[in-house]
Amino acid sequence: MFPGAAESAIGPEPKMIAMTSNSAAERAAELRDALNRANRLYYIDQTPEMSDAEWDALFRELRTLEADHPELLTPDSPTQRVGAPPSARFAEVVHPSPMLSLGNVFDREELEAWWRRVSEYVEVDRFDMTCELKIDGLAVALRYEGAVLVRAATRGDGIRGEDVTANIRTIRTVPLRLTGDDVPAMLEVRGEVFFPISAFEQFNAERETQGLPTYVNPRNSASGALRQLDSSETASRPLDAFIYSIPVSDGDIPATQSGVLDALKRWGFKTHPWSRVAADLDEVSAVFEDALTIRPELDHGIDGVVIKVDDLGLQARLGTVGRDPRWATAWKFPAEQATTRLLKIGINVGRTGSLNPYAILDPVFVGGVTVSQATLHNADVIAEKDVREGDLVIVQRAGDVIPQVVGPAPGNKRSPDSKPFEMPGFCPACESEVFPDGEDVVIRCVNGRCPAQTVRLLGHFASRGAMDIEGLGEKLVAVLYEQGFVADVADIFDLEGKRDELIALDRMGEISVKNLLEAIKGAKTQPLARLITGLGIPHVGSENAELIAGHFRSLDGMIDASLHACIYRNIPVEGDGRSELIKNLTGIEGIGPTIAESLQDWLRLESNLRILRNLAAHGVEPPIAERATKDLRFAGLRFVVTGRLDSLSRQEAQGKIKELGGAVSSSVSGRTNFVVVGADPGSKYDSAVRLNVPVLDEGQFLKFLEGEEPDVAAKLPEQSEGRSVDREES
Ligand code: IVH
Repeated sequence: MFPGAAESAIGPEPKMIAMTSNSAAERAAELRDALNRANRLYYIDQTPEMSDAEWDALFRELRTLEADHPELLTPDSPTQRVGAPPSARFAEVVHPSPMLSLGNVFDREELEAWWRRVSEYVEVDRFDMTCELKIDGLAVALRYEGAVLVRAATRGDGIRGEDVTANIRTIRTVPLRLTGDDVPAMLEVRGEVFFPISAFEQFNAERETQGLPTYVNPRNSASGALRQLDSSETASRPLDAFIYSIPVSDGDIPATQSGVLDALKRWGFKTHPWSRVAADLDEVSAVFEDALTIRPELDHGIDGVVIKVDDLGLQARLGTVGRDPRWATAWKFPAEQATTRLLKIGINVGRTGSLNPYAILDPVFVGGVTVSQATLHNADVIAEKDVREGDLVIVQRAGDVIPQVVGPAPGNKRSPDSKPFEMPGFCPACESEVFPDGEDVVIRCVNGRCPAQTVRLLGHFASRGAMDIEGLGEKLVAVLYEQGFVADVADIFDLEGKRDELIALDRMGEISVKNLLEAIKGAKTQPLARLITGLGIPHVGSENAELIAGHFRSLDGMIDASLHACIYRNIPVEGDGRSELIKNLTGIEGIGPTIAESLQDWLRLESNLRILRNLAAHGVEPPIAERATKDLRFAGLRFVVTGRLDSLSRQEAQGKIKELGGAVSSSVSGRTNFVVVGADPGSKYDSAVRLNVPVLDEGQFLKFLEGEEPDVAAKLPEQSEGRSVDREES
């Protein structure tokens, strides 16, 4: 039984903590501390010292005290694990440092390549590595101030997540107050929330008997639990959490990852007991084998081992590439496979009109879920894999990855009339003729009014990664489209006036319509980047959308650009054949020519201009977007680094240049802006002198990195607009 779960506890006579305090405030503090300590002993250390009955009695006393003296209620009170009022939607949290993802390796060879990259980058040939299990759950960030949990957020897109503090509080292994005298005044820890497997099975079985839909796996049910707007619902699900890092703090933290894990444990967090330090790759391999062995015994999913450079100083020097840290990698377990029958090859139409073949399978249990469909990518892949309808096939699934058909299973027998698969010549949704997309193997339906494309696009617009309109899933979107409620994304904001018609729809009650309309209303002020993501502009994902939003700043800014693009659509331009607008768009920091072109193609369609205007007319008004805040001081500058530097390796120097938006070349030319010269430079230095390219010594370079303009006659970029699009390695 969980302490506090039952009101009528049967157990030994409560041995109440003595009433030593004089005031209600002191007594409340005493009760809080005693209960928090008991909680930790029970849930994390698993050495309970207090009986359930005593726990209940103290808990009730504290609750009464807080009810009588509301001013005594503190966020770390154990009574606050449940009870925050339900909210309409989660508030947004901007992470103080991005929540990164991880690169993968699948075998020893790839691991060795990772190790070599690390070793060369920081020029060390021995370093310890912490090996941790890769928990198959959801990343969360917990912020503590004055040792008290003040905020918990989901990962979201890594930059922004959702505030799920009320829900996280319900997890008994998450301390509401930390213990120890060396806890930094402010810290953010990160870890993984998961649904224990045994509890998941029980939970699903109960849902089944209640006629409720079941979850496919523990990870999805953890995600479902964490996203409950009513935290008492979350509290009824036994979530758990392992904590593994301290990315932000204002105090001293240990100098190694293994030390961090020890400190976390001391302060009251639940850390995974399995972690260990390896000195070399043979040790890592042994640890990996061990993880595979213990995997079946664990009550939580794992999908590999995370290997981290132990020394945090080295980690800082290694930094990140894109969203992945250089200092860590995940050695993933091999994909699980199963054999089943490929019943039929279906085609679905994507939101950009691509015809995507997929396998309809005889359902089979693999990698922790029942799989009944798998992607087949395109006709070439099907031919290469040599699979046909009716074949016995091998299906595999690794972690989160979409299930795949590997190929025919050994012993597969084909009937004489089995035929190789052929792509249809017509769109299965609208029957228009389909065309190959340029050189690509993709076949596309180019009918801009194709119903399948429209429904997919509408679904994408409302999805969590875009406008996040809760309750507007693909199924409802399809119904709304079929019934003529919506034909494009702007129509979604027209639904407010159609309340009664919506209630009349099948399976739509008054409450669900009310919630839906509230969610739609809320979406009107979603950030511009989310709106841009939702528009489904080819090649524009959420990261690019962020940059584009920073350029246009507002929906009006985007409408102006579209108007301009429509007006100049047919006017030929001289020179390199690009319109002014594309030049302008390639000027957006971080946006390459393919995306700029795709964006322009989208903007110059009058139908799209109309959508943008309709959105504005319906009151969609994203807050003004910030310009990209990334420091790109070196954008447009081309560097060559030569010779041996003292305080950092050549690779590190090059990495820093690229982080600031600069380009690095391997040879000096007339286009080089600076040559950074260390000891024993060789011929590149001579070329620099010959071509009159400014030379920076190490000291000048370091100052330049910190923002001080170098005291040399810099060769400025050739054009002021500058960044050449074909820049090397940038
Ligand atoms: S370290 C530095 N350690 O895996 C960025 N992540 O694929 C990664 N994960 O988002 C954090 N167990 O949600 C780290 N022991 C572990 C982990 C772990 C699971 C998840 C985490 C992260 C994802 C990256």
